[in-house]
Amino acid sequence: MNVKNLSVRFRGQPSAAVSNVSFKLRPASVFGIIGESGAGKSSLAMALLGLHDSREVKIGGEVTFQGKNLLDYSEGDLCKVRGSGIGMIFQDSMGALDPSMKVVDQLAEVIRMRESASRGESRLLAIQHLERVGIAGDILAAAPHAYQLSGGLCQRAMIAMALACNPEVLIADEPTSSLDLRLQAQIIALLNERRRSTGLSIVFISHDLGLVSRFADDIMVLHEGATVESGKCADILNKPSHAYTKSLVGVWGQSGQKGEKAVAPA
Ligand SMILES: Nc1ncnc2c1ncn2[C@@H]1O[C@H](COP(=O)(O)OP(=O)(O)O)[C@@H](O)[C@H]1O
Ligand SMILES: [Mg+2]
Repeated sequence: MNVKNLSVRFRGQPSAAVSNVSFKLRPASVFGIIGESGAGKSSLAMALLGLHDSREVKIGGEVTFQGKNLLDYSEGDLCKVRGSGIGMIFQDSMGALDPSMKVVDQLAEVIRMRESASRGESRLLAIQHLERVGIAGDILAAAPHAYQLSGGLCQRAMIAMALACNPEVLIADEPTSSLDLRLQAQIIALLNERRRSTGLSIVFISHDLGLVSRFADDIMVLHEGATVESGKCADILNKPSHAYTKSLVGVWGQSGQKGEKAVAPA
């Protein structure tokens, strides 16, 4: 995926939420996007998949995927890309699930449509995918509706759903923000395993510098919708050149998290 001069402007807003952002996502790599709340991370993520309402939001630039600019796609063509070409884990995972349907059934339905598997097979595969994100046994049975699931469980269900579609690229917007460290480590290990086995590449959005430093290959620092700096993750976090990045890294250093051992093997 290659992003060139991407801009996002909400109707009626004086300034753009995202301005002229460019980056390249290499196969099997993790591209981290960091920045404080309101920096434009989610607006950017949604633009990558054409998820903004074109009546409310003006998008500029190019998002090249498999040789074509997704911003030229019709809604019908985008639907074909979403899920199997590019998967997405939303920041608001609770809102992305159907509250009237058991999570295991939702996932089984997605699998059944994708792989033309039988109902029984799809259900078994769905259970396997959910077990990989730590949803198993009693939780699986005792979680009848999405609205009874905690934020963390919804997040894990969304991750299972995204990975079940076997995408080439995954856009993950704060995917582990509601999870404790043990589950966070399990999800990062799962994503790393997918990188190795299928060449999955990931746009990993987070405000957690510690997590990004352990997981991302390259990063971009976003501030007020614009790129402050980008490059190799270790270079930028160890030797930030921009004052804004220095302040972010400084706060992180003071929080005592810097230098913590990696939560998951890369
Ligand atoms: N639907 C919307 N309408 C108008 N402005 C929005 C909308 N969504 C986000 N914004 C604005 O866009 C900017 C970036 O927000 P967002 O992309 O959610 O940032 P982040 O994900 O980094 O916290 C903010 O100033 C926010 O107020
Ligand atoms: Mg956000």
